[in-house]
Amino acid sequence: MKQIVVTGAGGQLGSEMRCLSAAHPDLEFDFADSSRLDVTDRQAVLAYLDAHPADIIVNCAAYTAVDRAEDDAEACRRVNALAPAYLAEAAEVHGATLIHVSTDYVFDGRNFRPYVETDATCPATVYGRTKLEGERRVLEGCSRAMVVRTSWLYSSYGNNFVKTMLRLGRTRSELGVVFDQVGTPTYAADLACALVESIRQGIVPGLYHFSDEGVCSWYDLAKAVHRLAGITTCHVRPLHTDEYPTRACRPHYSVLDKTKIKQTYGIAIPHWEASLEACLKILNSQE
Ligand SMILES: NC(=O)c1ccc[n+]([C@@H]2O[C@H](COP(=O)([O-])OP(=O)(O)OC[C@H]3O[C@@H](n4cnc5c(N)ncnc54)[C@H](OP(=O)(O)O)[C@@H]3O)[C@@H](O)[C@H]2O)c1
Repeated sequence: MKQIVVTGAGGQLGSEMRCLSAAHPDLEFDFADSSRLDVTDRQAVLAYLDAHPADIIVNCAAYTAVDRAEDDAEACRRVNALAPAYLAEAAEVHGATLIHVSTDYVFDGRNFRPYVETDATCPATVYGRTKLEGERRVLEGCSRAMVVRTSWLYSSYGNNFVKTMLRLGRTRSELGVVFDQVGTPTYAADLACALVESIRQGIVPGLYHFSDEGVCSWYDLAKAVHRLAGITTCHVRPLHTDEYPTRACRPHYSVLDKTKIKQTYGIAIPHWEASLEACLKILNSQE
């Protein structure tokens, strides 16, 4: 039976991996959240993987507070760049495969067509730069590494844009959301499915892009959340990016081309709107 250690297991993706694990009794999962394993502690990482031998390590740990990272670069780099190097080292020692998750923010967003894996990177933020360094360290440090860049992750677990739009939609009569940043929302449950499917089929090392299908702006996503949740009392106003300044500068265009992962593993990816509906049903059932 394949042994899989999931680090950063308390976050959105880690929680979706845990949820999915129940449907895969032939895979043995060990979920290590930050209280069980601090991935920035090299000795702790090496000792944990000595004590919990894994065929596959799935690194879901990350510093994801994109704006805060601008003023907290060292802490961000420890989690997003140094920790992946420690995991790569431990994976290499044990002959394990490392699946590491990265981001569309490694690109500057000046493209006019979906980004492929071989496109030049040019991160504009501390978060993006540290994630790019993490990718490089994983690919250089582990001979069996799969790095998956994803975008606009949301889930019924944790805090995210979808949950914020639900909350604000129910409490406000008007809301401004940027319409000139375009990308693809990704339901973390879909990414978890794709990772488990890759594990089942046998990991083909390399760099991959994964998001849900389709393209939209944050404004479109907010409108879709309200429409699907039946919220009719909040007017959503489209804003230009310069009307909504943030500490970290977001890419205007960050659509990922998923051809490689679809062809390598033969996976079908749902459209973002179908997945959003599925997630909202779960959130609705929890109320
Ligand atoms: N969220 C997005 O929109 C987005 C977009 C593109 C790519 N991604 C990437 O997708 C992956 C999954 O993201 P996510 O949204 O699931 O992130 P998340 O919900 O923010 O979860 C990250 C997890 O990492 C854990 N963590 C932080 N520092 C740690 C440490 N030193 N040791 C162990 N665990 C630590 C956190 O634990 P604590 O909470 O206990 O600190 C948290 O449970 C990440 O690689 C992220 O960069 C995310």
